Parts: sequence; C-alpha cells; structure tokens
Amino acid sequence: MTSSKVPFSQAAENNKGPILQVLQQHCQAPGTLLEIGAGTGQHAAWLSAQLPHLQWQPSDVAQNLPTIRHWLGQTHSLANAPLALDVSDQWPIGPFDYLFTANTFHIMPQSLVAHCIAEGCRHLNTEGLFMVYGPFNYDDQFTSDSNRQFERWLKSTDTQRGIRDKEWVEQEFAQHGRQCLADHAMPANNRVLVFG
Ligand SMILES: C[S@@+](CC[C@H](N)C(=O)[O-])C[C@H]1O[C@@H](n2cnc3c(N)ncnc32)[C@H](O)[C@@H]1O
Repeated sequence: MTSSKVPFSQAAENNKGPILQVLQQHCQAPGTLLEIGAGTGQHAAWLSAQLPHLQWQPSDVAQNLPTIRHWLGQTHSLANAPLALDVSDQWPIGPFDYLFTANTFHIMPQSLVAHCIAEGCRHLNTEGLFMVYGPFNYDDQFTSDSNRQFERWLKSTDTQRGIRDKEWVEQEFAQHGRQCLADHAMPANNRVLVFG
C-alpha cells in the first residue's frame, strides 16, 4: 500500500486527544484491551503508545486490516497486529479487561449493535469496562443541529444506520449485567459512555 492511497481520518486525529484523557481516567490498571471497528488504525497506533500498560488489540473486518497494518507500521505503536473480527461472527479471543469502540454504533444496524453489546459483555472480564465513543441521542432527541444533519446523511447512505439513543444502549447493557458508570462529553457533540 503506497502512502498516497492510504485511508486517513481527520476526525480520528481530532478526537484522539480527548479520548486519551477518558481512557487515562478509566484504564489505570494494566490489562488487555480489544478495539472493535478500528477503522484506519490511527487510534490504535497513537493511543497504544500513550497507554503502554495496556495490551492493545485492534480489530476490524478483514478488508480494513491492510490499512491498520500500515498505520501501525508508520508510528511508534505498541498495538498488537490487527485481528480480523466481524462482530456478527464468532469472537475468536478474549476475555478482555477493556473493550473500546469509536464511531461504530451509528454505522452498524441496530440489531448488530445489540449483538455487539451482548458478545462484548460475554468477552469482558467481570470487573472489565466497555467504552463507547460516538454521537448519542437522549430521550430520542438530537443534542445538536449538526447531529440531526449527520443523521440525515447517515440515512441517505444506509437506512439501517443511525444515531442510537443512550437509554436504549443502557438497556441493552443492563440485560448483560453492565451499568453506565460514566458519560463524558466530548468535542463536536460526541460522548464516551463507560459501562461496567
Ligand atoms: C466510521 S468507522 C470508525 C472507525 C474508527 N473507529 C474511528 O473512529 O475512526 C466505522 C467502523 O466500523 C467498522 N464496522 C462496521 N461493521 C462492522 C462489523 N460488523 N464488525 C466489525 N467492524 C465493523 C467499519 O469497518 C469501520 O471501520
């Protein structure tokens, strides 16, 4: 893969600092972390180097792995080699101390988000934490005009995409014995929800 063709996410560059602050707060104990839907791998590359006490395992669908490998190779990443994991398939590894996913719950169909939560909780140690970054609605209300516009764009690309309601996400986690321990405001009307 030549550098000029490598996918790059400006959003990941913008949000990695605020995400780091949240992970530093919640991931103080050394442990294993599975990143679901790692995308380009920019988060894995940078965050793993900032959090050397974590064994960072990036994953995504198989077609994204070459890009993730590229980004890990370009940096002082401490992440493991990326793992092919489509969350709708069998999860081949775990359990983990931490799960982290960014900007995936509005991309996956709602039924797949529910499945991801169920499987994630099954692959999380009892004391583990599942951290979810992205936009969320509260009581079915958008938190900003920009999120309302984003929802319109998401639906124009795929009607199954959409910003999830925080209360619905909480209910899904509660079915698997996990509660929302923290809800952090992030720049650009995003949140990090922490379940454990
Ligand atoms: C908007 S991107 C976010 C990428 C990255 N986490 C970020 O924040 O820059 C959504 C990601 O979800 C992944 N994804 C979608 N469906 C998935 C599935 N069934 N299993 C695993 N990953 C999935 C996509 O491949 C993509 O990398």
